[in-house]
Amino acid sequence: MRTQIGIVGAGPAGLFLSLLLQRLGIESVVVELHTRKYVEERIRAGVLEQGTVDLMHELGVGERLKRQGLQHGGIELRFNGSGHRIDFRELTGDKCVTIYAQHEVIKDLIAARLAANQPIIFEAEDVSVHGLEGASPTIHFHANGATQELQCDFIAGCDGFHGICRTSVPAGAMQIYDRDYPFGWLGILAQVPPSSHELIYANHQRGFALLSMRSHKISRLYLQCEPDEDLALWPDERIWQELHQRLATKDGWKLTGGPIMQKGVTGMRSFVTEPMQFGKMFLAGDAAHIVPPTGAKGLNLAVADVRVLARALGEFYQSGKRELLHRYSEICLRRVWKVQRFSWWMTSMLHRFANDNPFDQRRQIAELDYVTSSRAASQTLAENYVGLPMD
Ligand code: FAD
Ligand code: DHB
Repeated sequence: MRTQIGIVGAGPAGLFLSLLLQRLGIESVVVELHTRKYVEERIRAGVLEQGTVDLMHELGVGERLKRQGLQHGGIELRFNGSGHRIDFRELTGDKCVTIYAQHEVIKDLIAARLAANQPIIFEAEDVSVHGLEGASPTIHFHANGATQELQCDFIAGCDGFHGICRTSVPAGAMQIYDRDYPFGWLGILAQVPPSSHELIYANHQRGFALLSMRSHKISRLYLQCEPDEDLALWPDERIWQELHQRLATKDGWKLTGGPIMQKGVTGMRSFVTEPMQFGKMFLAGDAAHIVPPTGAKGLNLAVADVRVLARALGEFYQSGKRELLHRYSEICLRRVWKVQRFSWWMTSMLHRFANDNPFDQRRQIAELDYVTSSRAASQTLAENYVGLPMD
């Protein structure tokens, strides 16, 4: 088999890239480890920046998003038992974010790709990449009972943090920058209307809590927990009780509980690979970088990478110029580091750290007080949250 771009991974990075390339008339094949059902049901992020929403419309995959997405013009920061709204629309010239689950995005992208008769190979086993520094790199895998070799002009490594693309690069060719956090998030999906019409990020003595949602009928909530928290220790009543305590306000606001449909624990880390390219392979999304989820940036950053990559490949196939391809890492990393900074800052401001002393806790509250009372500081949060402009 032969194609122009071999894409490893059918997550947001790989699928958006495949549709962007399709629009430019560039051929690609997507090779995915899991089944279609698995990737379409995997519960992950839920906040889309305006740029991501606009791209879905441009690609003609925004019809369900338009009907089902919830536009949010602000968030609440809650601390010391009171809520403070950050008004995105007013602070950013009418920008907002849209709540629409990542797995719904995935369903829309897969449907569009298959409707156009473009290949996605699901359940590919033993995927490996070869000849990255040669003229025609290849992707090897087993699928449908046979061993296959896909020859490509370029490979896009869109296979997430645990994928094989980044780890196929020889040691020393890339520099890693990372930071682990001494906590994780216990996330639930509950069959109950959200108790607030906007997201609430809460700093509390007992740890961070976040109220989010998926629709007018489904709530999504998170609690700061141990990185290796044992879910068996968290029956539903304990989760709701903890959420009640961390989200409580002095004016008696009430959180409504309900049946929990799904629970999971997510670890938190910051991680960047530099450069994001080796030979003819380009890394995009979580394969190249991870942010802690507090700023809701992971999916949006993956989309920003592949926009740059599609533009660079478009220029190459149209004019033979490699200038943008050479600058791929540099262009992406400028945004990646700003988003890393924002996600780290939101995480540091809102979580309890094991070695915090009373000074750190007072400083955190002072920071939240400043962010919610200074227009300049609120604006900084708002413009990062709705998404920095694309390069
Ligand atoms: P992925 O979505 O990871 O996609 C990579 C794809 O590659 C997957 O389909 C995978 O099956 C496939 N793959 C892996 N290995 C191979 C292989 N060897 N061969 C072929 N295919 C392979 N972000 C937020 O902003 N908020 C959140 O609440 C949030 N929650 C998250 C919860 C979890 C459990 C995880 C893991 C991530 C979460 N994120 C969250 C981050 C966000 O979902 C990611 O940043 C986003 O999915 C990145 O997209 P991607 O396409 O780069 O990678
Ligand atoms: C959600 C996840 C986030 O990481 C976040 O900051 C806000 C909302 C969510 O899953 O709804």
